[in-house]
Amino acid sequence: MMRLDERLSSSNVFLAPMAGVTDAAYRLICRAHGADLAYTEMVSVAGIHFRSAKTWELVIPHPDEPEIAVQLFGSIPAQFEEAAAQIAERVGEKLALIDINMACPVRKVVSKGEGSALMDDPGKAAEIVEATRRGAGDAVDVTVKIRRGRTTGTELAPEFAKAMEAAGAAAVAVHGRYASEFYRGTSDFGCVERVADAVSIPVIASGDMLNAHRIAEVLGDGRVAAVMVARGSYGNPWIFEDAKRMMSGEDLPVHDAAAKLDALEEHLRLLVATEAHIARARSLVGWYMRGVPGASALRNSAMTCTSLDDYLDLIEIARTRLP
Ligand SMILES: Cc1cc2nc3c(=O)[nH]c(=O)nc-3n(C[C@H](O)[C@H](O)[C@H](O)COP(=O)(O)O)c2cc1C
Repeated sequence: MMRLDERLSSSNVFLAPMAGVTDAAYRLICRAHGADLAYTEMVSVAGIHFRSAKTWELVIPHPDEPEIAVQLFGSIPAQFEEAAAQIAERVGEKLALIDINMACPVRKVVSKGEGSALMDDPGKAAEIVEATRRGAGDAVDVTVKIRRGRTTGTELAPEFAKAMEAAGAAAVAVHGRYASEFYRGTSDFGCVERVADAVSIPVIASGDMLNAHRIAEVLGDGRVAAVMVARGSYGNPWIFEDAKRMMSGEDLPVHDAAAKLDALEEHLRLLVATEAHIARARSLVGWYMRGVPGASALRNSAMTCTSLDDYLDLIEIARTRLP
């Protein structure tokens, strides 16, 4: 497997971890359109500890995936060590890195001292990084993903990132919103820059990487080693290759309604090929249908779809309405 430093010298537009979204089908389609690395949804170290088959489903890459970045969440260092060791063994050469979630703002998570709650406990967070590194072994890089801080107005990220660097994190991804902001408002890029000033490990920017132009701007600026694209990839798997085109001065292709319907069909077929639950299709329809004539009626019809064939019929109807 490639070390992170080497990887970052040549590839730096990543698909961010998104719970409920970045399953194998989602990762495959984004990688096919230029994502240089794709993260799993966040994976519970407690789930690994209790041998949950559902948890392992999130970890194991599909045979067509070249590699995978696995993101872990939890609060017990020993469980991180155990999970990292088992994942390193089972995923083997396809394991690009293990990332630790110190960013999730959801109550169910922070109430257990997991996710962004770790930013209030740098000592515990450092122990988790050390434990994960012990479990993963020398060949696997361990990174962390953080927020600006927990509560609006109290920026913790630069100091906290320094502590994670000292604990052995190989890189830090920063989402420039406070946990208390969830996904509202705008992500503060100044915070990402302050983290970059504070540490000497690579910094990965997350937050509002919503179009190719913004990604090219951030990477062109040279302050960060990579960007992570999250919501900007909804219905737009081309965002990765478009960002690269933009950086090399090429014109961007237009992704018209016909192209969106083709991509939706491809994505839905991937859901089936990767044995995902077809319920995942519903949000995909909403995202890919943006800009397609009659989208709102089609979205409503999607509510009654229960099989791939139902969805394919819907796409056929949408195609007949194209100009
Ligand atoms: C539906 C959804 C699920 C997410 N799940 C995770 C997750 O499991 N782990 C994580 O570190 N961040 C998660 N995030 C945060 C994203 O990785 C990213 O940091 C955030 O959305 C900011 O990027 P954006 O403004 O480009 O969307 C999630 C975001 C969304 C919208």
